[in-house]
Amino acid sequence: MDKILTGKPVATLIRQETSDLILKHKLRPKLLLIQIGEDPASEYYVQNIVRSAQKIGCEVDFCPLDVSLSQDALLGKLHQANTDDSIHGIMLQKPLPKGFDENLINQNINPDKDVDGIHPLNLGKLWLEMEAFVPCTAQAVIETLKHYEIKPEGKKVVILGRSAVVGKPLAALLLSKTSWGNASLSVCHSRSVDLVNETTKADIVIAAIGKSEFVKAGMIKKDSILIDVGINETILADGTSTYCGDIDYNSCFDKCLAITPVPGGIGSITTSLLIKNLALACLRAQGHTKNY
Ligand SMILES: NC(=O)c1ccc[n+]([C@@H]2O[C@H](COP(=O)([O-])OP(=O)(O)OC[C@H]3O[C@@H](n4cnc5c(N)ncnc54)[C@H](OP(=O)(O)O)[C@@H]3O)[C@@H](O)[C@H]2O)c1
Repeated sequence: MDKILTGKPVATLIRQETSDLILKHKLRPKLLLIQIGEDPASEYYVQNIVRSAQKIGCEVDFCPLDVSLSQDALLGKLHQANTDDSIHGIMLQKPLPKGFDENLINQNINPDKDVDGIHPLNLGKLWLEMEAFVPCTAQAVIETLKHYEIKPEGKKVVILGRSAVVGKPLAALLLSKTSWGNASLSVCHSRSVDLVNETTKADIVIAAIGKSEFVKAGMIKKDSILIDVGINETILADGTSTYCGDIDYNSCFDKCLAITPVPGGIGSITTSLLIKNLALACLRAQGHTKNY
């Protein structure tokens, strides 16, 4: 197994698969990408989606909305897109403005166009192991394990973080009775007591907490596998930014068996999965139901 589990080869294969699918079925997938207000981290992510989608023949209707937009106006926009046959996928860039009811908004995205996998129906189906759109970051972790042939089956896996978009869907995937599931799982969070007791016993640690270099060498078992979902920005004195993960890469490197880098790890796979979901949504809208 490679020691550094880079995301690029994983993302390249997913992009190629998606491009083949689009060409084979002569698809013209279209994504509605809504961003409310300005957020530098979101800008980067949004531009990346637009560029990557266009490269393989997808259209992106980027819709920047003013931060003063009301929740009702947003719901109106979603209802319009839900029934517009020319739009196959809807993505709402987070964070939403303060005061917006995120659960209500997620529920108002047509589940067939929910390429980000956040509608309760898709999340419920995921737990029941039914076919569903899966949140892209959680799926990116599984794609990494698959690519590097790391089978979680029977292993002790610890997820740090229980958010609705990363920790929880990842828990569902790792618990599923599939080739890349069947893990013995612990999910830790900010109320967990003696988290180190969990991580030092884990064969695989997956960190998704949003705390720079939180996981240190003393918190892991020798020869464990470390998957870092975190993307934390630090602004340098000259005004430029640098990014690090939730795992202290340098301190853990010698002790672990393998580790994903930040940047260049899980984050680089997420966009390719979003576009793959978009192509699948478009294909389904054309009446194809399974096995593409
Ligand atoms: N690679 C990608 O494509 C991608 C995509 C999305 C997010 N991310 C990154 O992944 C990280 C997590 O994102 P998120 O959206 O899941 O974050 P989030 O919604 O803020 O959730 C953070 C989770 O971490 C837990 N937590 C916080 N501090 C902790 C601590 N000291 N010990 C144990 N658990 C702690 C929280 O516990 P409570 O539930 O108790 O509050 C919560 O469950 C961030 O760095 C984010 O930038 C990356």
